[in-house]
Amino acid sequence: MKDLISVNQINRQIFEDIFHFFKEYKNRYKNGETKISDLRGYSVLLPFFEESTRTRTSFELAGKIMGADTINISGSSSSIKKGETLYDTIKTLEAMQSDFIVIRHSMAGAAHIVAKEVKSHVINAGDGAHEHPSQALLDAFTILEHKGKIEGLKIAIIGDILHSRVARSDMKLLKMLGAEITVCGPQTMLPRHMEVFDVDYVTTNIDDALKDKDVAIFLRIQLERQKKVFFSTLNEYSIKYGLNQKRIDLLKEDAVIMHPGPVNRGVEMQSELVYGERSLILEQVENGLFTRMAIYRFLIEQ
Ligand code: CP
Repeated sequence: MKDLISVNQINRQIFEDIFHFFKEYKNRYKNGETKISDLRGYSVLLPFFEESTRTRTSFELAGKIMGADTINISGSSSSIKKGETLYDTIKTLEAMQSDFIVIRHSMAGAAHIVAKEVKSHVINAGDGAHEHPSQALLDAFTILEHKGKIEGLKIAIIGDILHSRVARSDMKLLKMLGAEITVCGPQTMLPRHMEVFDVDYVTTNIDDALKDKDVAIFLRIQLERQKKVFFSTLNEYSIKYGLNQKRIDLLKEDAVIMHPGPVNRGVEMQSELVYGERSLILEQVENGLFTRMAIYRFLIEQ
């Protein structure tokens, strides 16, 4: 396994191996070991052709903590703007002896295409509406830390499923790990062929989706990917699909609430719930750092 492109590559053993590194790094870092030299001498290039705060920063910081040289390349300031192709851009980065290329791109399949062309380890940091494997791993690790297991948990994934790479990666990974998955959103935001995802329940009724769940994962409305109208107004979406206190009460008493971020406050959830007592949103962000350290380590040990 040279690259991490899709959660389809992750079986239970690989999941356990990456989780082992995650726990090791989190433990060491929390005990004050903020410089770990496992990537000393490695270079990490981060071409991000779409906006990012959490993913780019945590992959960069993870590389720096581990002693790598990290270089950011943004779409708006690279020669892509002058018309250079993705292929030529990536061959150029490889020629600079990159050990890792962590790429985010608006095109589904971009990371896969790049991985076939280069010797560097390629990590998919999000490709269009296709996949976001490191997000799925950090979500699974966060759930495991809180619930002690994933097998048998009842998990609802709610929102703009159609445009969400997080939904696609979360559904597949959490299902592979034995969770019961309910997917919920407006009919217009559910993929036409939901059966390919092998989830347990699909509903357009959020109250049914939340009832007695252990975990509720809310997804951002991806306005930038919506080429037509999928709902009448944000206010209507919020009324029909937004999280409020009444809906929290439908969940199990010890249920947790997650969101990959960034949150559209007042749309996917009421503003005061974003960092409320059930919310794991900031823990997801923190765990993103240790997850990305674990992914680097796993890939260099292959
Ligand atoms: N969750 C996530 O991918 O966030 P960013 O777009 O900020 O990286």
